Amino acid sequence: MAIVPETDLIQPVSDPAALEQRIAALLGEMTLQEKIGQLALVPAAGGGMPDHLRDALREGRIGSVLNEVHVDTVNELQRIAVEESRLGIPLLVGRDVVHGFKTVFPIPLGQAASWNPDLIALGARIAALEAAAAGINWTFAPMVDIGRDPRWGRVAECLGEDPYLAGVLAAAMVRGFQGDDLTQPGSIAACAKHFAGYGASESGRDYNTTSIPDHELRNVHLPPFKAAVDAGVASLMTSFSDLNGVPATGNAMLLTDILRGEWQYDGFVVSDWESVRQLAVHGLTPDDRESAYEAANAGCDVEMTSTTYADHLPSLVEEGRISQQQLDAMVANVLRAKFRLGLFDDPFTDPARCPAALNPEHLQAAHTAAVESVVLLKNDHGLLPLARGGLQTLAVIGPLADDPYEQLGTWIFDGVPEASRTALPAIRNLAGDQATVHHVRALETTRSRDRSGFAEAVALAERSDAVILFLGEEAILSGEAHCRADIGLPGAQEELIEAVAATGKPIVLVVMAGRPLALERVVGKVQALLYAWHPGTMGGPAIAELLFGVASPSGKLPVTLPRVTGQIPIYYAHKQTGKPATPASFIYIDNIEPRAPQVSVGNTSFHLDAGYTPLYPFGFGLSYAAFEYGNIRTSSPVMKLDGAITISADVTNTSDREGEEVVQLYVRDLVGSVTRPVRELKGFEKVRLGPGERRTVGFALVASDLAFYGRAMRLGAEPGRFHAWIGGSSEADLQTEFLLAAAHTS
Ligand code: NOJ
Repeated sequence: MAIVPETDLIQPVSDPAALEQRIAALLGEMTLQEKIGQLALVPAAGGGMPDHLRDALREGRIGSVLNEVHVDTVNELQRIAVEESRLGIPLLVGRDVVHGFKTVFPIPLGQAASWNPDLIALGARIAALEAAAAGINWTFAPMVDIGRDPRWGRVAECLGEDPYLAGVLAAAMVRGFQGDDLTQPGSIAACAKHFAGYGASESGRDYNTTSIPDHELRNVHLPPFKAAVDAGVASLMTSFSDLNGVPATGNAMLLTDILRGEWQYDGFVVSDWESVRQLAVHGLTPDDRESAYEAANAGCDVEMTSTTYADHLPSLVEEGRISQQQLDAMVANVLRAKFRLGLFDDPFTDPARCPAALNPEHLQAAHTAAVESVVLLKNDHGLLPLARGGLQTLAVIGPLADDPYEQLGTWIFDGVPEASRTALPAIRNLAGDQATVHHVRALETTRSRDRSGFAEAVALAERSDAVILFLGEEAILSGEAHCRADIGLPGAQEELIEAVAATGKPIVLVVMAGRPLALERVVGKVQALLYAWHPGTMGGPAIAELLFGVASPSGKLPVTLPRVTGQIPIYYAHKQTGKPATPASFIYIDNIEPRAPQVSVGNTSFHLDAGYTPLYPFGFGLSYAAFEYGNIRTSSPVMKLDGAITISADVTNTSDREGEEVVQLYVRDLVGSVTRPVRELKGFEKVRLGPGERRTVGFALVASDLAFYGRAMRLGAEPGRFHAWIGGSSEADLQTEFLLAAAHTS
């Protein structure tokens, strides 16, 4: 029978002092082995209950498990932990619930394209509710790494290239997973990962080294983690990668100095899969024992799957290299999360208390998320929305038009492909009896080079009024360890576009992909381009509604779309350089597509064969409505360091249909003690405007919104001149300016 310290029964965990007392009381009861057991995150057997797991649980050698989704097994694991172990400490049950559980939402990068924090929070909430029904109480999400290299397969999982946007959306995901109260059924602990710098892996190759200057680490990579911490995220996961010579899992500067010292974080830190053991593979340590020492000493509380803590912490503590105090702090961090989750009061899962997975409400939310994640990048002559009735025959061509699995994207362990609604039947459904829809797959997969299906596709295009091409990447082409060196359309897809374009029929290209693709070579051959990412369970109806104008596109790019792979890294918040390019300052080598000859007027920063601009900039996305911006103004020409300023502009829907627009505020700090980006996103608001409707949208800023780590590595705003823009993308040209005054004034 479990020993329950008496304090457990009396004090509420919402009182921080009482919570710490309960933790201290429990720690006082624990043996060294039981303490170290709390630091072990162990893979479950996936359905069964092998004897070794049962024994380890009874002996208190396991604090958490991962990858068990059978609720009966999870309940049995919890039962053994609470009823058959000496202290009865319940388990954390972890799983990668990344963009949905059974109901799959768009990949996180796609969700980020909605620029809709409430919708993203709802998606995380639904994922949490469905996962909680399986007994999961901890998700390894959100991933908040900054993604500025689309070769990196995990860009699919991130929330874009911008620290502000990623921070706002990370906080929304944390809110969604954790709810208002972690003890409520359906609230699960979130985990912001991968702390830190993982997205900067050299050459976009997963797990690769990162070299990140301190001010860039703090100004670009850490803010989304700070936003997640401020939102109350229960845990953080370390990165696999080497940060400036010290792999993140053994990096005390990150895990202790910044996280605990500066941010006062009191959740727990988990390693990534075997990343403690990998400290030796990196060459930071000679063996497992030193890996355990470095990771524990740096501030990594829980070890995922490798066993260096279990094997070596006992002697490291006995020898005093890891102090009792350090060990207790690690264990306390884990126990705190378990108390906050209410697991000591009720560790068991009754699926009946959670809504059924894949219920109509969840599917509707996934549908809305898919609609809002799609970005309309091109729409020549208003080809979209397709006029129902005006088109008698439609050709739907490509391997991704009707593939229930591929549209779900990466990280869908528990997703249900059979529940997916694909585009082809949804298009047929909306076309009704007004248009005949024919489909040719043309390529077996997006990677196929076999062109034997092209003739049929071309013949179909020839006898149709318009063509909708569904191309891009299968799910397997992005995600962990699925990086690409060339991010053009894979296989023979470019040739397919050329062959179909030769028919002269109007083409809508719908791209499903886990990353921004480099589409320079094909974009001129299609009249409309919808970027749909991997849109999840309800992707098909969402795309069909956008194609026919039942819904209007409202997504905006959360990442820059490069022209060609060689431009990477290319992101909007770049530095100015000493020799900035301008539209008139370069020549092109005509190896991409014919352009008007340009005259070079001096040495500036650009590529001979790609220029210096992206194909589509961050923040960009069209609508079937049309928005005009005007009358930008500041509430005052001068902002005091302890004051505030409001920057506003009027946004008018000049079209005759309703639409949503993401109004964005960018700022440039003209002179800094370290050079500042040419623009930085500082605010956004998604507004819905009826035909002809005008709205004033204002953004209030205080000095901390302008703060950055300067040359002295202190966070603060530096007085001086600022430019500000409000508009519908990072290339907004409606500009104003203000002065940040030097002294505090009353
Ligand atoms: C490795 C991945 O890097 C991490 O993101 C994930 O949460 C763990 N494996 C667990 O599956």
